Amino acid sequence: MSSTTINRDGFRDRIERGEQVEPTENLPREYREAAQRMIQFHANSEIVGTLPERRWIKKAPSLRRKRAISAKVQDEAGHAQVLYRVAETLGLKTRDEMIEDLLEGDAKYANVFNYEAKTWADAGYIACFIDGAAMFRQGSLTESSYAPYARGLRKICYEESFHVKHGEDIIRSLATGSKKEQEMLQDAVDRWWEPTLQFFGPRDDDSVHQDELMDWGLKVKTNDELRQQFLEEFYIPKLEQYGVEIPDDDLYYDEEAGRWEYSPLDWDRFLEVSRGGGPMNDARMDERTRAYEDNVWVRRAAGVN
Ligand SMILES: [Fe+2]
Ligand SMILES: [Fe+2]
Repeated sequence: MSSTTINRDGFRDRIERGEQVEPTENLPREYREAAQRMIQFHANSEIVGTLPERRWIKKAPSLRRKRAISAKVQDEAGHAQVLYRVAETLGLKTRDEMIEDLLEGDAKYANVFNYEAKTWADAGYIACFIDGAAMFRQGSLTESSYAPYARGLRKICYEESFHVKHGEDIIRSLATGSKKEQEMLQDAVDRWWEPTLQFFGPRDDDSVHQDELMDWGLKVKTNDELRQQFLEEFYIPKLEQYGVEIPDDDLYYDEEAGRWEYSPLDWDRFLEVSRGGGPMNDARMDERTRAYEDNVWVRRAAGVN
């Protein structure tokens, strides 16, 4: 049954009026399942992104940078915790079951974390532009129909805005630094351009779950709408501001259509990476297992598991 045909107790009417719903209400099973898939994906992404980011605490070039990136890593782990707890309120899976999914390698998460952050410029780029992209996505989701998710995201977005500032500060210092630093920044942008645009997910025509999520009001803007908004309001203006060359010669703004046009992205590659064939999929899996095993003593000391 499609989500549009479900209107038990006028539930769909309420969603269409833009109402937000609480977990204590009689929510259709299909709604809970769609919300579970989306929020669990988001929570997993926070964990998978955070684990390799820890490495930059040691490698950051100054005490000030180390402090900022430590705070970011701590925030991201907190975001995962908030989001798993939000997902738990749907009553379908416990937090432990979701962690188990993640450790078994079955769980989906944002593809962008299957690429390697090679240099310090990459660490700054990720904080500025990947967290920046996440801000656009999550900012729209503060209007999501699932009230606990919308509330959680308001806190998360507040912290994300600091991550973006921290990232931009790194970008600024590289862009105004030595020739070598400027080249390092350009190299980061060249490598991350495509994964960043793909961060918003498949094109609207190819997205499997999008219509259902939009119907339920769980998602409020489409992947393509968010991609355009990000290009227009943040990505292109920031790259121009810092004198970075945009690595797509065919990029232009179509005045009539009111949108940015860019060279076709490699969506076959995107699918391959999401199915496990990206450069860092295996390393990310190992990292999760190692982190879980290394922290057995913490869970024991805290009296859990
Ligand atoms: Fe986050
Ligand atoms: Fe973040």
